[in-house]
Amino acid sequence: MNKILVTGGLGYIGSHTVVALQNAGYEVVIIDDLSNANVDFVDRIASITNVKPSFYEIDLKNQEKVNQFFRENKIDGIIHFAAHKAVGESVEKPLMYYRNNLVGLLNILDGMKDFNTDNIIFSSSCTVYGQADKMPIDENTSLKKPESPYGKTKQMGEEILEDFSNAFNKKVICLRYFNPVGAHSSSKIGELPNGIPNNLIPYVTQTAAGIREYLSVFGGDYPTKDGTAIRDYIDVNDLADAHVLAIARLLENKNKTKLEFFNLGTGTGSTVLEVVHAFENANNIKVNYQIKERRLGDIVEAYANNSLAAQELNWQPKISLTESMLTAWEWQKSI
Ligand code: UD1
Repeated sequence: MNKILVTGGLGYIGSHTVVALQNAGYEVVIIDDLSNANVDFVDRIASITNVKPSFYEIDLKNQEKVNQFFRENKIDGIIHFAAHKAVGESVEKPLMYYRNNLVGLLNILDGMKDFNTDNIIFSSSCTVYGQADKMPIDENTSLKKPESPYGKTKQMGEEILEDFSNAFNKKVICLRYFNPVGAHSSSKIGELPNGIPNNLIPYVTQTAAGIREYLSVFGGDYPTKDGTAIRDYIDVNDLADAHVLAIARLLENKNKTKLEFFNLGTGTGSTVLEVVHAFENANNIKVNYQIKERRLGDIVEAYANNSLAAQELNWQPKISLTESMLTAWEWQKSI
């Protein structure tokens, strides 16, 4: 049985990916520093899969602890999620973001080099494209300098991985996620935002739950059909499946080049108001909202051309926006 290290495996996308890996028969070991995750997710994962993943509470900035981990565990492949991800916070605390997201990655890569692990999947983001000139966005779209330190750490991470794979002959896949939404159908795992949510869906679900008074819709004057901005909302369980396919591709040496990039999105753009209405209709509940000023740094639209992932990973998103809105609400009600 192949042993896969999932860093950040107790986080939102990480925990869903651990479930998908275990269901596919992989042995999973998680590293998480619990900075934005709860340790009870180990048991929550086990309650879904009937297998308790091994868990190490390690801060990846601690190189000695990371090396010790690699000494104790023979790892076949790594899925590296662990990173800070709040765009606004990264503008306030850039050094914290660079230190955490880049030093953590470097320590993992040193471990791969020194302890002979050949395969890594990196959590990247559509943020590396900035406001692309044409839609949908394919992997050949030129990258633009990201607006935020968070976005820059994703772009730098990809560049570090390029040099790493060349120098040490390691296999790398960067997965560029569009906007992850939804929760596991069991409602046992989902997104746990820290404090006031920055992202749309947790804000919507907390507003529906009465925790927030109203949703501010950032910008009603964009050049779109209803004036609100367009994103590609991809279900977290579909994302998790893509990670299982990507790690298998590397383990089976099916990759075409040492370093590959895949967009993970549905291929369909939805406006903010379409998402709000999808949530309302799916759950038969009202969401109070007010149209406000545009949010600094936001782009007008981003949605994926996902045909490369379809062709090479044999990946197809299966879960509709309506279903994601149902599971997001079930999850909100359970916490
Ligand atoms: C952001 C990041 C992305 C990151 C993702 C997940 C950028 C440009 N984007 O995506 O890299 O991977 O978060 O952490 O760096 N909205 C509202 N009201 C709200 C919240 C959001 O109207 O209260 C709108 C936004 O203006 C946007 C859409 O909803 O149009 C989605 O916003 P959000 O969920 O924050 O994701 P992004 O900004 O697209």
